[in-house]
Amino acid sequence: MPAEQLKAAAPFLIEQKYAEYSQEQHSVWQELVLRRWPQIEAHGCREYLEGYQIIGLQKERLPNLAAISEKLRPRTGWSTTPVSGFLPAPAFFEMLAARMFPTTTWLRGRDSLEYTPEPDIFHDVFGHVPMHAHRVFADFLQHYGSVCARIEDQELLEQLGRLFWYTVEFGLIRQDGAIKVYGSGVISSHRECSNVIEGGCEVRDFQLEEVLRTPVRVDRIHKLLFAIGSFDQLYEAMHAAEDWAEQRLLESRPGR
Ligand SMILES: [Fe+2]
Repeated sequence: MPAEQLKAAAPFLIEQKYAEYSQEQHSVWQELVLRRWPQIEAHGCREYLEGYQIIGLQKERLPNLAAISEKLRPRTGWSTTPVSGFLPAPAFFEMLAARMFPTTTWLRGRDSLEYTPEPDIFHDVFGHVPMHAHRVFADFLQHYGSVCARIEDQELLEQLGRLFWYTVEFGLIRQDGAIKVYGSGVISSHRECSNVIEGGCEVRDFQLEEVLRTPVRVDRIHKLLFAIGSFDQLYEAMHAAEDWAEQRLLESRPGR
């Protein structure tokens, strides 16, 4: 879908003014990447590491979103689209459904290298975008957006939000006999990633029903996360989630 066809998200689209980033900002980016890299190299999942190479991220310079989109589009149809900040849910889902990842362009300062309450370009690009080069993950994410874009029931959306949280944001995968990370919140945070690697967090096998009924806690480090066995499993879980959501909507119709 071309950007002109977006409705809910249209007011949030901006340009990334790449030439306006300062040398100090490029050097903060470099520091962020270098801080995370040793853990990512050892514990990032295969698909993330491949995606990182494919989209051509550079350690020493902030990413140019248009250049990343050029690399992604022929592979998975995704683009990395600059937006002005946090998006309301309908705008967010509309963009995912159109294979456009809403991406912030601001970068945290040197005083908040570990954590920012709102996502910045490091969380969005370093954390999320490499996975968009993987076809199955990319299709899963598009499907997630297209299902949520059709739902207005807030309780249902909150439950589907847990699926997003425990996969796209904090997902783990079993690979080569070990737990590897692919969720952007674990990829981009030293604290969350160490918590997983050092056994501070229980890891259960991903079961859709359990994920949908496990509330999200944003006020503390994770005590429980879920590991998929493959991205095909995630893709199939999204189809099951769609069926589940449709059933819930049917059951809630008046007159039943
Ligand atoms: Fe995120």
